[in-house]
Amino acid sequence: MADGHNPPLTLGIAGFGTVGSGLLRILRENRAEITARTGREVRVKSVLVRDLSKARACPPPDGARLTDNPDDLLKDPETDVFVELIGGIETAGELVGKALRAGKHVVTANKALLAERGNEIFALAAEKKLHLGYEASVCGGIPIIRTLREALAGDRLDSIVGILNGTSNFILSEMSDKGMDFAAALKEAQTRGYAEADPVLDIDGRDAAQKLYLLIRLAWGAEYPYAAIPVSGITGVSPADIRYAREFGCRVKLICYARLHGDDPRSGGIEAGVCPALVNERFLLARVEGAYNAVRVEGNAAGSVFLHGKGAGDLPTGSSVAADILDIAKNVPPCNTGFAGPHPTAPARVIGPRESFSPHYLRLNVADRPGVLRDVAAVLADHAISLAQVIQKDDAAETAPPPAGKAGPYTASLILMTHKASDDAVHKAVTALAALPFVRESPVRFRVLTGKSGELPRLRAGS
Ligand code: NAP
Ligand code: HSE
Repeated sequence: MADGHNPPLTLGIAGFGTVGSGLLRILRENRAEITARTGREVRVKSVLVRDLSKARACPPPDGARLTDNPDDLLKDPETDVFVELIGGIETAGELVGKALRAGKHVVTANKALLAERGNEIFALAAEKKLHLGYEASVCGGIPIIRTLREALAGDRLDSIVGILNGTSNFILSEMSDKGMDFAAALKEAQTRGYAEADPVLDIDGRDAAQKLYLLIRLAWGAEYPYAAIPVSGITGVSPADIRYAREFGCRVKLICYARLHGDDPRSGGIEAGVCPALVNERFLLARVEGAYNAVRVEGNAAGSVFLHGKGAGDLPTGSSVAADILDIAKNVPPCNTGFAGPHPTAPARVIGPRESFSPHYLRLNVADRPGVLRDVAAVLADHAISLAQVIQKDDAAETAPPPAGKAGPYTASLILMTHKASDDAVHKAVTALAALPFVRESPVRFRVLTGKSGELPRLRAGS
């Protein structure tokens, strides 16, 4: 109930799918709390959908109009906030641009749009002095945008490491804990509403890279182009890798990382990437299960801050959308990028693969015959890569007769753990290994996440 002085805040919500339904439920069920916090009513005037005849998870709010005409939101003088929850780039981008030009605040969960068109949209919102809220676009219900923009604003940040995609973490957890196969786990993630409309974005790592792009902007006020982030997804992760990782006391996770080199992102640079990695079971990140996400931020004053929560789904994501709406209702001044400087932000120096170092896990399917290990070691030595551990597995499940035209009688798996090596050296070595006549499949290559000590995971006794 409004207090009689403050007019209601009027929303036009575009999208009535997973997140739109979650938001509408929160606005309905938490209405009293929201009014108590803002001192005004938050009301939904219209809900935009593509298909008016589709059955909905819940009814539209009392008095709200379900429409398939964007102008009912964009041209309505009473609508204060355009909430974009339709996803995708073209239509969403056009509607967000029109809303800002019409003087409406925007709240969105659309990381794809912000990663592709962020500069233009942030600049327009700044020019118009309007809110562009996007808490829901990264890590669902975890308040990571606010944490970087406000709570850690007094720190000089050193690094961000996290699990930023709920769908891929769910798939890896299901494969690991229940032995579910990849396709079945993906289907389940889709049924639960975690996956993107195009789930390839989840499993090939691009959704996570879009989120990492936004976190880098917030952490360092610098532009590291989304397209420049090295990305590899989880499609190459097999049950064998999950099993071998466990023998090293590790879990396989899709890890996002960003680290400042030197004191300044423009001169020193930023190292960033998204890839599957072996994570020691002792680390908190290894224990992030299902559709949960987590982010560890290192600041020079706060030290290590770890946030963990639901990374996808209707209510967690709806909660973050609602928080942005409440900021607008409370007349908090917009501070979309967290920086007072120019829009768009200055470009960061991109740290390339020659300057980016990590230990690596490599798995090769090879013919089991004399000289194989010698030749593999020679390739690694040629690329200045030092081996920390080598294991050969010829257990029945991995042993097979050679494919036609390939050398040797049987196949064995070689698991190699390297010391720190540059991404460039490892990439070139893997290309050379793949060309050896006794290597039967494309080699598998993951990073190994180490703690501050740099200690490598060790093979467990009895493995
Ligand atoms: P969704 O379930 O597919 O819902 C999309 C909604 O948008 C549907 O109601 C659809 O209408 C409507 N829509 C699509 N295209 C439209 C168009 N051209 N005109 C009008 N309406 C249109 O998607 P979602 O999972 O809620 O995701 C929405 C956004 O939130 C995406 O940007 C996504 O990346 C982001 N996000 C999702 C999650 C999550 O857990 N799902 C978490 C964080 C962020 P119909 O219903 O009529 O088809
Ligand atoms: N598809 C995304 C995920 C939704 O699985 O993390 C949350 O952004």
